[in-house]
Amino acid sequence: MLNRFLSHCLLVAAGFLAAVPAFADKPNVVILATGGTIAGAGADAAKSATYQAAKVPVDKLIAGIPTLGDVAQVRGEQVFQIASESFTNDHLVTLGKRVAALAKQGDVDGIVVTHGTDTLEETAYFLNLVVHTDKPIIVVGSMRPGTAMSADGMLNLFNAVSTAASKDARGKGVLVTMNDELNSGRDVSKMVNIKTEAFKSPWGPLGMVVEGKNYWFRLPAKRHTMNSEFDIEKIDALAPVEIAYGYGNVTDTAYRAFADKGAKAVIHAGTGNGSVSNRVVPGLRELRGKGVQIIRSSHVNAGGFVLRNAEQPDDQYDWVVAHDLNPQKARILAAVALTKTNDSKELQRIFWEY
Ligand code: DGL
Repeated sequence: MLNRFLSHCLLVAAGFLAAVPAFADKPNVVILATGGTIAGAGADAAKSATYQAAKVPVDKLIAGIPTLGDVAQVRGEQVFQIASESFTNDHLVTLGKRVAALAKQGDVDGIVVTHGTDTLEETAYFLNLVVHTDKPIIVVGSMRPGTAMSADGMLNLFNAVSTAASKDARGKGVLVTMNDELNSGRDVSKMVNIKTEAFKSPWGPLGMVVEGKNYWFRLPAKRHTMNSEFDIEKIDALAPVEIAYGYGNVTDTAYRAFADKGAKAVIHAGTGNGSVSNRVVPGLRELRGKGVQIIRSSHVNAGGFVLRNAEQPDDQYDWVVAHDLNPQKARILAAVALTKTNDSKELQRIFWEY
């Protein structure tokens, strides 16, 4: 009888120990969910492109990866539940303030933001500019919904959490973990919209994450996070900045319309080296004369590289060049920078440094 009682006690004790979370001594990671395909759901496992984004709540995303508890103590917050093409400047500011507040908490070791891939690169760059922390901040999405065969969201999210829990990811700025790569939130961009290998940095990834371990090959060169002069705690609204696309037969209609609607800067998404049609130059010079900042970037796919006074006499026109930032990232930097300065020479310094 006694033996049965003792063995019963041992079984109960064993059962209790098994129930103790496996992550009692693990880093604390918070997942801020905003929607996108990583939270998408479709009706047919064979359909990886036909689904509804922003359906699955964060707790279900976490529950869908049982091994997360092996790498971190994870909890989730549903900040938004939207497709990322619908992000606004206000969404960015709200998200940035939440990330910054969590980063200040002693019981938070890393933060993951799940996000649609359409504007993921913009949000990652924005957080890189305005959140003052050296704790890992990882922005992650997926190209296929979890309901599709060979869905990529689970591993992308696992990699994001394992990286957010890693001490070696500290101080490297905001990172993006897609398709096993570790990319800088500043450099990475969605280069193709139908492959799991969608995100590329023109100058290469920082490293790889394989089986929960990070392998680093390079470090960010531009100012970010702790070394940024911009602070989300001092920003309540971003400046209105718009993008106008350059192409053959272009006119200055869009640029003028944006300025008429109050744009403080217009990003010229130019061909090649940020080139500007001779049909548009006079209009841009007129807008500059009215105080609108003109910022030349390039819409070439695998990485523009716009230099001052090459395609246009920027010194004479008092224009700014976006260097290697694509138009959508140039918009983010300009929208942040214009909260602090409207001086074109200061803006140009900022575009060289960030
Ligand atoms: N609607 C797109 C978005 O939310 C889906 C693309 C994705 O998340 O992969 O960005």
